[in-house]
Amino acid sequence: MTTLKAVRGTRDLLPPETALWNRIEATARAVFARYNFGEIRTPIFEDTSLFARSVGEETDIVSKEMYTWDDRARAQSEKSQSLTLRPENTAGVVRAYIEHKLGESGQLQKLYYMGPQFRRERPQKGRYRQFFQIGAEVIGPPSSGSESPLRDAEILEMLATFLDESGIAGWTLELNSVGSAADRAAYNEKLRAALEPLAPRMCADCQRRAVTNPLRVLDCKVPEDQPLIATLPAIYDSLGADSKTHFAAVTAALDAAGVPYKLNHRLVRGLDYYTRTTFEFTHGGLGAQNALLGGGRYDGLSESIGGPKAPGIGFAIGEDRLVLTLLAQEAAAAPKIEAYIAPLGDAKDEAALSRINAAALTLARELRRAGLCIELGDGSFRLKKSFDAADKIARRIVILGEDELQSGILTVKDFTSGVQTKVPREELFRFLSAPANQKGAPE
Ligand code: HAM
Repeated sequence: MTTLKAVRGTRDLLPPETALWNRIEATARAVFARYNFGEIRTPIFEDTSLFARSVGEETDIVSKEMYTWDDRARAQSEKSQSLTLRPENTAGVVRAYIEHKLGESGQLQKLYYMGPQFRRERPQKGRYRQFFQIGAEVIGPPSSGSESPLRDAEILEMLATFLDESGIAGWTLELNSVGSAADRAAYNEKLRAALEPLAPRMCADCQRRAVTNPLRVLDCKVPEDQPLIATLPAIYDSLGADSKTHFAAVTAALDAAGVPYKLNHRLVRGLDYYTRTTFEFTHGGLGAQNALLGGGRYDGLSESIGGPKAPGIGFAIGEDRLVLTLLAQEAAAAPKIEAYIAPLGDAKDEAALSRINAAALTLARELRRAGLCIELGDGSFRLKKSFDAADKIARRIVILGEDELQSGILTVKDFTSGVQTKVPREELFRFLSAPANQKGAPE
């Protein structure tokens, strides 16, 4: 019988890694709470037309990657319906905002979510068919201040704080403005004209998009098309005065708050609902899929799905990619276990073995109670087995055999420096507490 496996592009998350997932989610909840966000949980599937009308028919997500099925009527009174597993959560949040008339309070709605999303992409490192996002949206009627550039800067500052508190080192914030709906329309026309002579030399998707939605040509990943795409006009030159002023206010607030960023005029993002500010936080350690998170402003989204005017801005963090980055950082850092105590006994002499093990436990107890992280082996292990086990997890190994027990002088080997040192038992705590690779401990 063939054994069943998790479906391609999906995976099981197991301990100890799940502890890291929980830690990231706890950090996100704690940070978002300080900025006064509340949690929203929307369904995992929605009416297909929600995504077609918000994310956009011509995007890769809607045209190629959605898990869509026909939900057949089970009774005469029921209608059949096309349903889709959510490929992202912004559309669902804005649908809920409209459905529950959240704008009628007049207050800015600050909502965050965590959960699985589904896209039928080609799986690779950092790209899965079921993946997890932690996201947030700030949305409300214009009178609530939802259009203010301060909202954009505040969201970006919150993300910088979240990444710092999660322990992510070396992120880059890439920032752009795609302008208002009118600016985008003007840019689309410029692109359409520029693409007319180029499109016949481009891939089939670009040929179609050059006519239907030229902006999406900028999402093309086909290597042969890139030199042609590089010659296309930049969106910044199509921005109206209002959009430029809005963007300048966002960058001025970031400068004042000390949040570093890099302008990237090609960052148009692969979803159709964006207006004005768009951004991604990238990380060099991720390889091809280098976006840790992405987001932007979507001032016309509510109206496009039948709601009231409700400007908004939000983001979604790729939690899988955040975990990958933290795991890589942890692997590169020194092991946190300060020492592995290896009792060295004679497996055939039970009395001696039990004496050595008992002495090792006593030593481990003292060091642990003094605050060190210690792993304890077993006196029946051969020396090589103890070394192999210790080398994987600890910074040093402490050998405790009959000789050491008698003399009170222990042998300590530091795996990073390769140096072996004799240390009197009473000096051991001070020696192990010293940072790795440093002298200042007794020889
Ligand atoms: P997005 O750029 O499509 O934006 O996705 C946001 C993040 O989700 C990406 O930067 C990436 O880290 C992660 N991600 C996307 N696809 C995958 C995948 N197949 N496997 C693993 N991780 C993935 C959105 O989804 C927008 N809803 C963000 C937003 C919220 N804009 C405004 N509000």
